[in-house]
Amino acid sequence: MSRTVYVNGSFLPEEDARISVFDRGFLFADGVYEVSTVLEGRLIENEAHLARLQRSMNELEMTSPASAKEIVAIQEELIKRNGLIEGALYLQVTRGAADRDFAFPDKAIPSLVMFTQAKNLINNPAAERGLAVISVEDIRWQRRDIKTVGLLAPTLAKQAAIAAGADEAWLYEDGFVTEGSSNNAHIITKDGTLVTRNLGNEILHGITRRSVLQLAQEADIKVEERPFTLAEAKAAAEAFITSATTFVLPVISLDGTSIGSGKPGPLTQRLRQLYIKQALAS
Ligand code: PDD
Repeated sequence: MSRTVYVNGSFLPEEDARISVFDRGFLFADGVYEVSTVLEGRLIENEAHLARLQRSMNELEMTSPASAKEIVAIQEELIKRNGLIEGALYLQVTRGAADRDFAFPDKAIPSLVMFTQAKNLINNPAAERGLAVISVEDIRWQRRDIKTVGLLAPTLAKQAAIAAGADEAWLYEDGFVTEGSSNNAHIITKDGTLVTRNLGNEILHGITRRSVLQLAQEADIKVEERPFTLAEAKAAAEAFITSATTFVLPVISLDGTSIGSGKPGPLTQRLRQLYIKQALAS
């Protein structure tokens, strides 16, 4: 059965959904996006995702196609029309369609597209198995705090991981880990401290990252926000990633070196459970 997607004011069967060939998202990756999780038919941490969307648009001087309230109404309608219980809701805003010119168009109407993806997020086999990660040089642009649809570098990194028989790529710059291809990277040192890169333009300010750091502090786990090296990650007791669609997933090896026991770590598993519990209760 075909999905219903949302495109610029209309709910349509996916095969009938259209965007102009002049859309600047298509021509210049002149667009931003958000991925919100859906559990039990409800959006998780959606307010924070919409706040970050607004920030991304502000940073790029992009006009919002709708108010936050209108966006939520469309999101909820889309979830309802698709009967989505568990999965993700993808939302993209672009600067709109205009004759091709690098400079911003005077009068373009921003595009708004949304679609759902059904997926088992809680019962994810990777949570039991853990992820094998390879390191890939971070060749992205310098404003990674903006969630743009310019995703070729992370696509290449993820593909390199798959080609190497691994699951995920951790990106590094000047010897330090920035983040994963589409997630934030964290380690737990042998003395039980959670270390994760500090916020800045070098990484996306993950919504899940923020919640997990809060949960860690509440669980009396010491948190240090600072850059860490690949060598430090390999010598860590545990490692994990966070993102809207993965919550907390253990990393069990980096470039072929086992991390800790080579199995999902106990603190990682605890943080995953705490995050899921909080999400379901929200
Ligand atoms: N990615 N870092 C990057 C580069 C990301 O693309 C993402 C999210 C994150 C985690 O952010 P959050 O916890 O807010 O989801 C970190 C989404 C899920 C994606 O592109 O599919």
